[in-house]
Amino acid sequence: MSFRKLQSVNPVPERDRSPFKDKEIPNTPLNPHLKYALFVFVFLSIWFFILFFWFPPTTKTTAFVQDDHLDPHDHSKLPVCDGSVSVYVYELPAKFNFGLLEDCRHLNIYTDMCPHVSNRGLGQPLVDMGSSWFATHQFIAEMIFHARVENHPCRTWDPNQATLFYIPFYGGLHASSKFREPDLALRDKLAIELSEHLMQQPWWERNHGRDHFLALGRTAWDFMRNDGATDFGANCLLNLPLVKNMSVLTVERHPWQGSNQHGIPYPSYFHPSTSTDMVMWQNRMRQSKRPHLFSFVGAPRTGVQKAAVRDEILKQCDESTRCHLLKCGRGASKCHNPIDVLGVMSGSQFCMQAPGDSFTRRSTFDSVLAGCIPVFFSPHTAYSQYAWFLPADTSKYSVYIAEENATRIRIEEELLKIPGEEVERMRSTVIDLIPTLTYGHPNATDIGFRDAVDVALAELSKQAQSSK
Ligand SMILES: *[C@@H]1O[C@H](CO)[C@@H](O)[C@H](O)[C@H]1NC(C)=O
Ligand SMILES: *[C@@H]1O[C@H](CO)[C@@H](O)[C@H](O)[C@H]1NC(C)=O
Ligand SMILES: *[C@@H]1O[C@H](CO)[C@@H](O)[C@H](O)[C@H]1NC(C)=O
Repeated sequence: MSFRKLQSVNPVPERDRSPFKDKEIPNTPLNPHLKYALFVFVFLSIWFFILFFWFPPTTKTTAFVQDDHLDPHDHSKLPVCDGSVSVYVYELPAKFNFGLLEDCRHLNIYTDMCPHVSNRGLGQPLVDMGSSWFATHQFIAEMIFHARVENHPCRTWDPNQATLFYIPFYGGLHASSKFREPDLALRDKLAIELSEHLMQQPWWERNHGRDHFLALGRTAWDFMRNDGATDFGANCLLNLPLVKNMSVLTVERHPWQGSNQHGIPYPSYFHPSTSTDMVMWQNRMRQSKRPHLFSFVGAPRTGVQKAAVRDEILKQCDESTRCHLLKCGRGASKCHNPIDVLGVMSGSQFCMQAPGDSFTRRSTFDSVLAGCIPVFFSPHTAYSQYAWFLPADTSKYSVYIAEENATRIRIEEELLKIPGEEVERMRSTVIDLIPTLTYGHPNATDIGFRDAVDVALAELSKQAQSSK
């Protein structure tokens, strides 16, 4: 996947410059020069229209027509949707999204979410880093997705025109506010109300919901309660028959039961409004000095079986002079400070991505953002999750060490075996992946690069068309 600078292909300004606008065409006998000029003009115009209609002004890799050099304040040049996607955003009763934010202090049993839900989910600005940076919470993708789709050039207000129907339910925030709710009926109440609400919508019937989708900022496990088993506070949302008919975007899909679930990136801290900001950051990461061979940012886990590999990585990292360890502890440790996290990662060649409480980690996306090649210990940390976003050939951008092998080998030795040119190539691929794994700033309708939301909408649309 490569990041291309989008070219100016918007034909509208050209047409506005047409001489027909301000010149009269003489209809009396023409002198030969004028006749010739008119002939050339008509010929060129016909060419122009043929070119325009035969080759629509985008290619497959550039979803939206835009001009890098647009003045963001010039509203006469709004970005144009290329027509492959047309997304309708349901206006849900407030209890399903914005209404939940009123009690932001109790949206999560561990954390006060009020600072995190501000700025439409971007969180608090990281002023020292510039205007594109925020201390974004890891489980907040659903809010950013909503804000971004609302301002998206491919949004339609006419459901008749829509190829996709987006249901902006803040299911993750709601789920985490009910983790300790012992009454299962109460825990499931809002999910069931959503199902009933959608059932009554005329647009549901058209395709039995196949063109409808949810975007959730938490893992699928939080919405797939198996009654009887330990449920970790989960509700029943993704097990509802109606929800099984639609697509569900989630930061972690169920690898075996999630056929209608699609992995979307965890949000990291970078939310640029322009492609210039994006390219500048990518260049900085290409040039970043990386004195550490590898690094690990994380905490030991107790009582989780997946903890075994974490403890091994912590131990090996601690013992190696080539590893930078940023150990997370309770409270305000450095590993929760975005600037410290990115500092460690942008100074490292490889970043260890051990599973934690679940298979996936936000840290994977922080590491890509920092141009640090991820090392995975489970295929479900990324490979079986984010097929829409990552190259099929996993060796192009990552290293895989099977969990059962991690204790038998020295990670340092394995990484040193990779030739320097290979490392360069992998890092370059990782840095090329940054735009499509990023959530652009939701207020910018014209971000000028394809971000995670653009990719998800295009893939959903393809899928909805082919299932008709
Ligand atoms: C987007 O713009 C609106 C209107 O100018 C502003 O009130 C809001 O704070 C902005 N949102 C973000 C996330 O910056
Ligand atoms: C789900 O889709 C099937 C057709 O594939 C349809 O028969 C069924 O009624 C749909 N369920 C709901 C809840 O719409
Ligand atoms: C573990 O390492 C051995 C030797 O390098 C390799 O043959 C084997 O495939 C690895 N196991 C897994 C599950 O990848």
